[in-house]
Amino acid sequence: MQYHMPSRLYFGPGEIQQVSKVLEAKNPVLVTDKGVVKAGLLEPVLDQLGKIPVFDSIEANPKSDTINKIAAQLRQQKPDLVIGVGGGSPLDAGKALALLATNPGNIQDYEGKAKYVTDPLPFVAIPTTCGTGSEVTWVSVITDVDRKFKMSIKGPELYPAVSIVDPDLIITLPKPMIASTGMDALTHAVEAYLAKPATLITDTHAVKAVGLILGSIEKAFTDIQANARQRENLMYGSMVAGLAFGNADVTAVHCISESIGALYDIPHGVANAMFLPHVLDYNLPACTRKMAVLARTTGIDAPSDDQAAKIFIQKIKDLSKTLQIPTFKDLNIGSDQFPLIADMSFKNNSNASNPRDLDPADYLNILEAAHRA
Ligand SMILES: [Fe+2]
Repeated sequence: MQYHMPSRLYFGPGEIQQVSKVLEAKNPVLVTDKGVVKAGLLEPVLDQLGKIPVFDSIEANPKSDTINKIAAQLRQQKPDLVIGVGGGSPLDAGKALALLATNPGNIQDYEGKAKYVTDPLPFVAIPTTCGTGSEVTWVSVITDVDRKFKMSIKGPELYPAVSIVDPDLIITLPKPMIASTGMDALTHAVEAYLAKPATLITDTHAVKAVGLILGSIEKAFTDIQANARQRENLMYGSMVAGLAFGNADVTAVHCISESIGALYDIPHGVANAMFLPHVLDYNLPACTRKMAVLARTTGIDAPSDDQAAKIFIQKIKDLSKTLQIPTFKDLNIGSDQFPLIADMSFKNNSNASNPRDLDPADYLNILEAAHRA
């Protein structure tokens, strides 16, 4: 058994005010997106750090072309630290740029585990959504535009040096973002618990995260400003889910959502929410007892494990409706594309971590079940 998570964590309302105290850098640069800038979330950071270079052109599902272009500009700044502020996209982009700041070439050259020669720059993660978990993981997911494929770039030196997780930063998060990033966090927690590489440590984090997220997401979605406790629990659950899947891995839900995200550029959390219950239906025979544990954690009372697990799956389906998540059918993807999505999902690295073996035909059945729902 092995568990690795070397980042220094600061969690709590108002923790953003610690930025200047915890950073040790002469020439930091900041990576973010336009939405974060528009929401005014950079102000508390820049108020403390003064004028520093800001790269704010990161898009959703960050693309290799964007990363390589920014890397060329960023190298000229000769930074000694990269700060990422935003959801999963700016945080993953920040990790990739911290790597390219000290290493030559393009981000595609570093797909896989620890392909860099020189250690990446230290990276500081400041999440502004409640789903990514990137603030406590070693992976950066970047879409290779030529291959239409989501690459995983990872390594022990890609863990953030510092993560500042301040739930007050999600106080203005729009409802669709609360829904999609919250469902991403829930998927991380559930998948980490059921994944083959799960351990006692990741299980402890995963069960806690499922309880925190399911206990808070509906109220946070209804009114995130008025519900401070739920806002905090949702952000905490997202981070703790990251502590679980960062060491246990994810399973078939992410295999599908990453394939669809690379092909159609839809929000990552929305794709996870579409497929989570259908993958759980498939996995049920392989992990009924564990699903029943998750069910009982959330207050579901049923005489048998099988019944408890089935009520839990239904609860997730109902939750997606409450959170107004679109269905797979709403995406208008032709069924002629399903074999390609199934094949890409089967080839995803996390396929091996699913608790029940799947081949492309099994993925096809899951896609068709989600399309009928
Ligand atoms: Fe995810």
